[in-house]
Amino acid sequence: MTNEALGESRPGTRGRAGWTREQASRIERTDDTVAPIVYPPATEQIPEVHIWDTWFLRNRDGTLATVDGYRVCFSLTAPSDLLPGKRHDVATIRCFYSDDGRNWHSAGPVFEDALGQRQWAGSALYDDDGSVYLFYTAAGEEGAEDLTYTQRIVGAGGGRIETADGFELSGPWTHHELLQPDGDRYEREDQSRGMIYTFRDPWFFEDPETGETWLLFEANTPVPEGSDVCGGDAALQEFNGSVGIARSPTGDPLEWDLEDPLLDAVGVNQELERPHIVYRGGLYYLFISSHLHTFAPGLEGFDALYGFVAEELRGDYVPLNDSGLVATNPENAPFQSYSWMAFPHGEEVLVQSFFNYYDFDGDTLDEIAHLSDSEQMRRFGGSLGPTLRLDVEGSRTRIIGALGHWHIPLDDETLPPTDRELIRRGKS
Ligand code: FRU
Repeated sequence: MTNEALGESRPGTRGRAGWTREQASRIERTDDTVAPIVYPPATEQIPEVHIWDTWFLRNRDGTLATVDGYRVCFSLTAPSDLLPGKRHDVATIRCFYSDDGRNWHSAGPVFEDALGQRQWAGSALYDDDGSVYLFYTAAGEEGAEDLTYTQRIVGAGGGRIETADGFELSGPWTHHELLQPDGDRYEREDQSRGMIYTFRDPWFFEDPETGETWLLFEANTPVPEGSDVCGGDAALQEFNGSVGIARSPTGDPLEWDLEDPLLDAVGVNQELERPHIVYRGGLYYLFISSHLHTFAPGLEGFDALYGFVAEELRGDYVPLNDSGLVATNPENAPFQSYSWMAFPHGEEVLVQSFFNYYDFDGDTLDEIAHLSDSEQMRRFGGSLGPTLRLDVEGSRTRIIGALGHWHIPLDDETLPPTDRELIRRGKS
């Protein structure tokens, strides 16, 4: 791609949206965007393994699936005696299930023969015929001696759930490499100029308006050296996160063609993680997670959930709450949660995330690594955090309360009144 072509593909010029520095410079904590402080869950709610990025089994229409009364989720997991910072190097996908949306049980590791040296985040589809597909990131090359950082998007088909004798998810699974970066729309590892490149976190989405089938993922936009993007500022060009997208021409979950990114953030942020969409009231809400340390120089953001809204899937996304910030951690516990995933529940949007480093108010996550091993272990949650409740109206969002750790309500579950509601009722 020439510099010129890249210049032309900047936001607004080709139906491709962008998160601009001006928008991101408005990021600030407000009452509506700061989550309550998180305390550790009850001992019986702490899983035997450390868990972090988590996703729910969903139907084609994006709603959470209920299979014979069970909610099902998948998490990246690592042994709980491993230093938390090392977990990404050994990540394994495990399945959990619950018949009350509160107490979760392990169904064990999902695969014996997954691609990659380890598996990173993804999504899961419960198809109309009852078959289960898992989309995940194969990180590193299987068979390589050293740990490598290549990322490929993989789909596994062949999963079935049996519940006659308790809950069981089984294969035989077949693993299909679905997508690799093309080096043109999506940066390859050898083009990366700054932090490690990204090509991961596939997320299945069927557009309710068109019926078309999509796979979103986290990626980077190639910015060749000498490009005039960001006024030619090389230090800013290294921060080139994008939300990638591929289309399935037939609706087949294992067949995808790369298309132009949905949105990018060149000069703004390097990692637009775990992109996903909630469709509500005719609008497409695109959410991503990102880190304080992945913002480009001159911008200050947080570990937080960010979001954008458009009238069409390929619309001109505008940032929610003017800056994009939707939910972040309190200032005195800036890393308590990460990897947020929003989903609809009745009138509200709920947001699940994992319980990360708590009882820690350092300025950067790097400071954790300087603590003793036992202090690092003590401060890592390694389980699902409380579920946030969001009120979403047009391009505004408000955190209106939280449910307990791991509380993912069943379809017909009515949520308790929020504190604000109770205060309002008390006054009237
Ligand atoms: C976010 C993330 C994902 C990735 C996983 C690896 O927490 O960086 O993008 O799939 O962690 O552990």
